[in-house]
Amino acid sequence: MDRITTDQLTRMLVGTGTPTGPLYRRLSEGLAELIDRGELPPGAVLPPERALAVALTMSRTTVVAAYQELQAGGLVERRRGSGTRVRTHARHTVSSRELAGDHAASQFLDGPPATIDFMTAALPSLGIVADVAASLTRDDYLQLTTTHHGYHLKGLPSLRERIASWYGGSDDILITAGAQQALELVGRGCLQPGDRVIVEDPTYRGALDAFARTGSRLCTVALDSAGLDVDALEKLLVTEAPRLVYVQASGHNPTGVVMTADRRRRLTRLLDRYDFILVDDTSLAGTAFAPTPSTLGTHERLLTIGSLSKVFWGGLRLGWIRGAPQTVARLAQVRGISDLGSSLVAQEVARRLFDHYEDAVAERRTTLPVQLRTLTGLLQQHLPDCTWQEPAAGASLWVRLPHGTATQWSQLAQRYGVALLPGAVFGSSDDHTRIPFTLPVETLRAGIERLSRVATEVVGYPTDAARVNP
Ligand SMILES: Cc1ncc(COP(=O)(O)O)c(C=O)c1O
Repeated sequence: MDRITTDQLTRMLVGTGTPTGPLYRRLSEGLAELIDRGELPPGAVLPPERALAVALTMSRTTVVAAYQELQAGGLVERRRGSGTRVRTHARHTVSSRELAGDHAASQFLDGPPATIDFMTAALPSLGIVADVAASLTRDDYLQLTTTHHGYHLKGLPSLRERIASWYGGSDDILITAGAQQALELVGRGCLQPGDRVIVEDPTYRGALDAFARTGSRLCTVALDSAGLDVDALEKLLVTEAPRLVYVQASGHNPTGVVMTADRRRRLTRLLDRYDFILVDDTSLAGTAFAPTPSTLGTHERLLTIGSLSKVFWGGLRLGWIRGAPQTVARLAQVRGISDLGSSLVAQEVARRLFDHYEDAVAERRTTLPVQLRTLTGLLQQHLPDCTWQEPAAGASLWVRLPHGTATQWSQLAQRYGVALLPGAVFGSSDDHTRIPFTLPVETLRAGIERLSRVATEVVGYPTDAARVNP
């Protein structure tokens, strides 16, 4: 018998249901969604009403009403003494979420949500993307379509050369559909079920998804304002013998930390003493507020992942893996199983955009710190008990919440029309959330003002929970 704990269920519920309507209905819809997706399997016993009410900061009557709604819909059965259980023949319809799976990508499936979206930390496109795309003439397309058969597993040769020479050195380049596909390929190509993978605490959730799906076991290493704790990593290399270590040395999502030169040196030296694959995800490198190296160098077991999403535009879906030629060749074969290469048109646009890379980075470096100051100003004004470490890169702030759990905050925030990610999603303790600062100022202000009301409710919780009626 599957007994679902309140803790498990509150995490599963994040992002489910509809953002409007009576609270009990939103909860019952969220639970129905989880049943539909099979995440709450037939026979699973749901948490007691009172415990779930406390965890979700809502009244017990709200939870009772939600359970009753599910019972009326034939999804659960309720027996005195044995609680609420998912029925064996609960309705099963395929939802878009089921098709997507419960991973980082789900948020992009249904288009922009109606609420203020603090979940996504995407950067707006730079104008140069449209300029360069519009500069392609019929002759350019003719050249592209007549010179190539169109299938380049590793990517458009001229773009790969451009990126390789941008780095310098002899490593090879595999063009991917964004850094996310790069992570997925590295997971599929380098990991076996049961392998150990070390990630920073916290880390990018899309990486957690990509690695967890290979059946590897993840363990975390601490991160501070200078980057990953290299001494702690070395101990783990000895005790855990990991197959792969995943870092973000040139700009870290979600904290915005940039690794110091000393730590970078000590980290890469470990490659000579221990047998592991080091994956450096440099997706945020172009958003660093000060000049930052965009690679840890070269080594036969170092893979550098890059992306144009943050510097130019996520819609290009253009990323890459830089690594030793034999590794790149193997990953290209893995890629060929699911797709035969990225669009050559997008790659040609990307190739031309590289001529503007330094200007684009300079533009990000000018705007991002200003937007960060706007957010920190709003936080100081409306949420003065929140704390954070000043980021050195990226488009979001990793904010420590003064009380309650971030899962409670995100549940309450949904009621105020703010979509918020709890820190647990980043594989970290649940006392942080990540707030993006690239939204328009008015949206940012409205979102932070709404969160200040959430703060008041979280302080009142749990004694005040009964105040919220269905
Ligand atoms: C650290 C990190 N890696 C990878 C990605 C995925 O980026 P892309 O849009 O290139 O797939 C992101 C996007 O937020 C990221 O922050």
